[in-house]
Amino acid sequence: MSDKPGSRILLGISGGIAAYKAVELVRRLRADGAEVQVVMTRAAAAFVAPLTLQAVSGRPVRQALLDPQAEAGMDHIELARWADLLLVAPATAHLMARLALGLADDLLTTLALATEAPLVLAPAMNHRMWTNPATQEHLARLVARGVRVLGPASGAQACGEEGPGRMLEPAEIVAALAPEAWPGRAGHRTGPLAGRCVLITAGPTREPLDPVRFIGNRSSGRMGYALAAALAARGAAVTLISGPSALAPPPVADFVRVETALEMAAAVMERVAGCDLFVATAAVADYRPAAPAAGKIKKAAAALTIELVRNPDILAEVAALPGGPFTVGFAAETERLEEHATAKLRAKGLDMIAANRVGTGAGGFDTDDNALVVLWPGGRRAFPLMPKTLLADQLADLIVERYLASLAG
Ligand code: PMT
Repeated sequence: MSDKPGSRILLGISGGIAAYKAVELVRRLRADGAEVQVVMTRAAAAFVAPLTLQAVSGRPVRQALLDPQAEAGMDHIELARWADLLLVAPATAHLMARLALGLADDLLTTLALATEAPLVLAPAMNHRMWTNPATQEHLARLVARGVRVLGPASGAQACGEEGPGRMLEPAEIVAALAPEAWPGRAGHRTGPLAGRCVLITAGPTREPLDPVRFIGNRSSGRMGYALAAALAARGAAVTLISGPSALAPPPVADFVRVETALEMAAAVMERVAGCDLFVATAAVADYRPAAPAAGKIKKAAAALTIELVRNPDILAEVAALPGGPFTVGFAAETERLEEHATAKLRAKGLDMIAANRVGTGAGGFDTDDNALVVLWPGGRRAFPLMPKTLLADQLADLIVERYLASLAG
């Protein structure tokens, strides 16, 4: 048995013409170092011979739930425990419906209920079946439970029609399962964000004037740290990139400390590929001194002028990435909160923005409490003043809701 984490793959094959691609898929998964146990539905066996899959996987194919011989070896519960990942390719409309309902009327659907391993589907079906509201409802339900869905691709179909419903190519499926493409897979967490990767920034940045002085702001990191913990508690593999903060790191998968906006931008851009969500809670300096002095600036002239240059807008750059993550920005405003936040939502091309009033009254920078108005295209929700930990919990639920809705629709 391989020791490589995530290398024991239960490959479920359901009954569609794309089942023939499963042979190549098994070959590629094994070449990638995985152990593959194939489980076929009765209909799948009409499209591709179990003996072929036994030959390429090097293991007897499992088909029946109540098979005394197979159950005497590794029974279905043991098989469910064995798996690091349950991949169903192709996943037909019928199989997705059974999974959405939680039926356990054959070995594959029983394993899907019994395993704690992440479930990944590569759907394949006629394009009208894919766009049918029934299939889309099942898809939304599965995605909301944390199921990862790869594809389908659009193009010519076996039935001679064109549209979305083609199963992804085996190489594309294998690439999507790689740790670089799916950082959230490690650790097998549970919750609505299980298997998802979240990158979040928090705290202030410091822009050096000389070796001892900097331009900074009053962000403590409290809002961002609380949100990072709340998203991790929902199953996500969270990477927190933090500017200088006195807080202890929250329980996240990865914690990266930076100082300047340029360092924060580099840390984000190095890690954003393959991430599902990006949340920008940091108060990033918009400008930095053009030429920080090498030595301590001496008190000489009556006035001192410092030239500032623009820092990269990290959030806008991430939102503009082709195929980039679901992006959630923050807006810190001293006046006309919703008007300015709406302008930022549009200008930066964000999926959501959480606006807070700063510099006046309660909430905002460096306090325990905060209030937010969250805006997204076509929607709005207001959260009254409350402790940032509680607020982060409620905001995390809304982020999950909007993110899952974006996947489904
Ligand atoms: O840390 P705390 O003390 O708990 O305070 C929390 C907070 C007030 C800092 C937080 O709730 C908040 O509002 N964070 C965003 C602060 C901010 O910089 O807002 P902004 O309106 O200037 O920026 C808009 C968005 O663009 C933000 O998501 C920001 O992270 C992002 N941005 C801004 C500039 C830049 N160069 N790069 C960015 O990514």
